[in-house]
Amino acid sequence: MSPPVAPAAEAAGPVRGVFITFEGGDGVGKTTQAALLEEWLAARGRTVARSREPGGTEVGVLIRDIVLHHRGEIAPRAEALLYAADRAHHIEHLVRPALERGEVVIQDRYLDSSVAYQGAGRVLGRDEVRDLSLWATEGLLPDLTVLLDLDPALARARLVADDKPFDRLESEQSAFHDRVRAEFLALAAAEPDRFLVLDASRGSADLATDIQGRVQSLLDAHAEKAVGDAD
Ligand code: TYD
Repeated sequence: MSPPVAPAAEAAGPVRGVFITFEGGDGVGKTTQAALLEEWLAARGRTVARSREPGGTEVGVLIRDIVLHHRGEIAPRAEALLYAADRAHHIEHLVRPALERGEVVIQDRYLDSSVAYQGAGRVLGRDEVRDLSLWATEGLLPDLTVLLDLDPALARARLVADDKPFDRLESEQSAFHDRVRAEFLALAAAEPDRFLVLDASRGSADLATDIQGRVQSLLDAHAEKAVGDAD
């Protein structure tokens, strides 16, 4: 695997904010946890920009419709490029500006999803897919990635209970989702400082407490660094 590039706080350019991403398979509860974290930060006076991929911008909404709802096959490399195109536009137009204003960006899915779904799920290869995303984003890595880990069979049962039609990726077979889960765990093991891995079968209030603890440490370290830089 190619080495990590630059966490948001250290990336080139005046990036002053904090970049937090949520990752995991479909139906693991990322959106719920992202919303709880946003609420918690807002209650502490932080300005939060919450977004998601694919589909965090107007252009992204168009790309999201293709990747999730196109009927019929999309060549795996085309799929990887579509996610990377969504990401490039989203980072340039929404995420970097928010980080430059000093905000906390909370994002549902980012480049680790591409490595897991396209790299491992579609078997395109970890390094190629990761390098594509790093090119698309000029090397922007999150300061913290919360991985909500859950057995895909349990996650699937949650999605079935939701009673919404499955999209293109959710409709993939269980072997695909098993590869995705294993890749997320491998990514977390390779970058333990960036990842917080949590068992998503736990209650959501419990999970939120663990996430808040880790985010608080991150914000404290960030504030200390800002003071150090100003001296
Ligand atoms: P979404 O409805 O946002 O799913 P979830 O609520 O599970 O996050 O759908 C996004 C789908 O796109 C999801 O199945 C994962 C997939 N995906 C990729 O395959 N590659 C990517 O780079 C990203 C960001 C998402």
